[in-house]
Order: sequence, then C-alpha cells, then structure tokens
Amino acid sequence: MTQDELKQAVAVAAIHYVVDGEIIGVGTGSTANFFIDELAKIKHRIKGTVASSEATAARLRGHGIDVFDLNEVTSIAVYIDGADEITASGAMIKGGGAALTREKIVASVSGKFICIADGSKLVEVMGKFPLPVEVLPMARAAVMRKLTALGGQPKLRTMRTNAGSDQAFITDNGGEIIDVAGLAILDPVALEREINQVPGVIAVGLFALRGADVCLLGTGDGVKTLT
Ligand code: A5P
Repeated sequence: MTQDELKQAVAVAAIHYVVDGEIIGVGTGSTANFFIDELAKIKHRIKGTVASSEATAARLRGHGIDVFDLNEVTSIAVYIDGADEITASGAMIKGGGAALTREKIVASVSGKFICIADGSKLVEVMGKFPLPVEVLPMARAAVMRKLTALGGQPKLRTMRTNAGSDQAFITDNGGEIIDVAGLAILDPVALEREINQVPGVIAVGLFALRGADVCLLGTGDGVKTLT
C-alpha cells in the first residue's frame, strides 16, 4: 500500500470514533485532510467542528461542514489528528505542519484524542523528527540558546518568498517556528514541561502531558489500534 492509502485507511477507521450530535475537533496535515474528506460524508450526523488551523477550517467549510470558534463551544467530544512521531504509549511530536499551538489547545479541551498515522510514524524514542517549537518572534534568539543548552540543534523554519528569498515562516498566530534536531527524547513529559517554561515559547510540539488516547496506525496488515 502507498503512504496515501495507509492515511486513507486510518481516516476511514477514525470515523468510528466520531460522536453523533457532537462537536468534533479536527487536526491539521495530510492525514487530517483525508479524515476531513471522510467526515464530509457523514456531516449531517455531527453538530459541527472546531479547527486547529486556518487551512483545516477552509477545507471543512469547503465541504459545507460548520466550523465553530473555540470560544463558542463548551465541549468537544473527540479530537482527531495526525502526528509526526508517536510512541506506543501515545506521546507524540506534532507541528510539522506548523499548527501545533492550536492543535494543543483543541486537544486539551477534547474528551478523547484519536491519533491517525501511517505506521512509519511509530517510534521507540522520539526526536529523529526535529521538534517544532512556536515562539514569539522577539524571543527567537533567546529561546534558541535555551534549546541549544538542552542539547538540541535549533533552526528557524523559513519559507521561500515569491521574490526567491527566504524569510521566517509565520504561523496562524503570528509566531515563528524553531525546529530542534538532535534530541533523543527519553523523558517526553519532563522535556515538555521544561520547554513550556522557557519565556517566549508559545507552545512546544511535544504532546506527552496530554498524549493520544487511541492511535490508529496504518500498516500493510491493516489498521492497528494502540490504546
Ligand atoms: C500539523 O501541525 C502537524 O501536527 C500534523 O498533525 C503532523 O505534522 C502530521 O502531518 P501529516 O499527517 O501530514 O503527516
């Protein structure tokens, strides 16, 4: 199976976790996009959604699915999203798509977190995928020094402008992203707490304090469920 077929398979499997009549939290990225397309087929069964990024909101609305502002809702039954790396215990690295802060906020107020990913995302020790950290632009250099002191190799995420030059990538929140390579994350909870405390950090893409409750992993032998 191709990677896209594996993502499609977990997106279909995730539909079983959608709670009828409720608000569904929706993540960001290519796997989440497959889920959105599946959700569109049963949109009449749900009350609406809360999106974790502008891109996800646009895709949901494109399907005619209601998207609520988080401040308008009191509960989200379930949050469904992808991951860049996940361990068997449900700790994740997220933020490859730069939506980590809103993903963390929506996940934190959701009843359940269902992670959907192709099998290549399952790791024993996280850190091969550079850890994204969203920062206030004025704190960029100070945070990078702290991340270096923690043993990482921080790099500012950039994007190519139409004029052909590189500039800092700016998130939906006006933040910048620092990608931290070279970490072997042996204690994800401790590292998440430590980076959370660095002034200027908006959010770190480690989801360990609140990890996934269920992970649907796409493999050549079918969708495997980790709980
Ligand atoms: C978005 O910011 C990320 O957290 C994504 O959930 C993560 O990067 C997984 O993306 P893919 O589904 O595209 O691999």
